[in-house]
Amino acid sequence: MKVLVIGSSGTIGSAIYKRLVSQSHEVYGANRGSTDYPIDITDVNSIKHLFKKLPKLDAVINAAGTASWKHFSDLKEEDYYVGIKSKLMGQVNLVHIAKNYLKDNASITLTTGILAEHYEPNAVGLSLVNGAIHSFVNAASNELDRGIRLNVAAPGAIAGDFPENKKFAGYFPVNIEDVVNVYTEILTSDTTGMIYKKY
Ligand SMILES: NC(=O)c1ccc[n+]([C@@H]2O[C@H](COP(=O)([O-])OP(=O)(O)OC[C@H]3O[C@@H](n4cnc5c(N)ncnc54)[C@H](OP(=O)(O)O)[C@@H]3O)[C@@H](O)[C@H]2O)c1
Repeated sequence: MKVLVIGSSGTIGSAIYKRLVSQSHEVYGANRGSTDYPIDITDVNSIKHLFKKLPKLDAVINAAGTASWKHFSDLKEEDYYVGIKSKLMGQVNLVHIAKNYLKDNASITLTTGILAEHYEPNAVGLSLVNGAIHSFVNAASNELDRGIRLNVAAPGAIAGDFPENKKFAGYFPVNIEDVVNVYTEILTSDTTGMIYKKY
């Protein structure tokens, strides 16, 4: 398969990238700092520019996007817009643009996380956008043409990035290899509109 992995220098994206390369897929790793395939998901022109450069793809996996980490009492309106611009609208715009460049029956996978439905202090800004992406995928997956599939991976905290013996949002961290399995399972499945939780 020809697969674009966005966020390919990050904890999750780099592990997905390595796994797919090891399975002999043709993988394009993209992120803002990439020399070969630069992309900024907060900028629609940057997203379009990369897709125009690539061949027709079988799949896009996004593992990029951020939001403000602050206590609710410190969150200002502009803090919410960090996550809305990046993890929420970055991923929404990616779907709008990617669908025009993908092969029939291609797969788009977004990334949210455990904070969509479990509480962790100072993570209100992330919970907001994760939940919104789940609702977006649930609805938008019904309105994609040409058999294009849209799913989301929602991991817990990744062990290694986070102490393995300490709970995050009420759950122990998850092994990165198990999280990568979720992304590869989505690639080879025929599901759409699904939230794949791993925590
Ligand atoms: N790590 C965890 O424990 C965990 C758990 C659950 C969910 N998540 C979610 O999974 C996603 C990835 O997390 P991570 O821990 O792998 O992140 P990370 O290690 O910080 O890596 C982020 C990756 O995305 C790229 N990136 C950041 N902003 C970007 C943008 N605007 N446009 C394009 N690329 C961008 C970064 O490279 P550049 O800086 O060069 O762009 C990097 O490759 C995030 O949405 C995070 O909330 C993470």
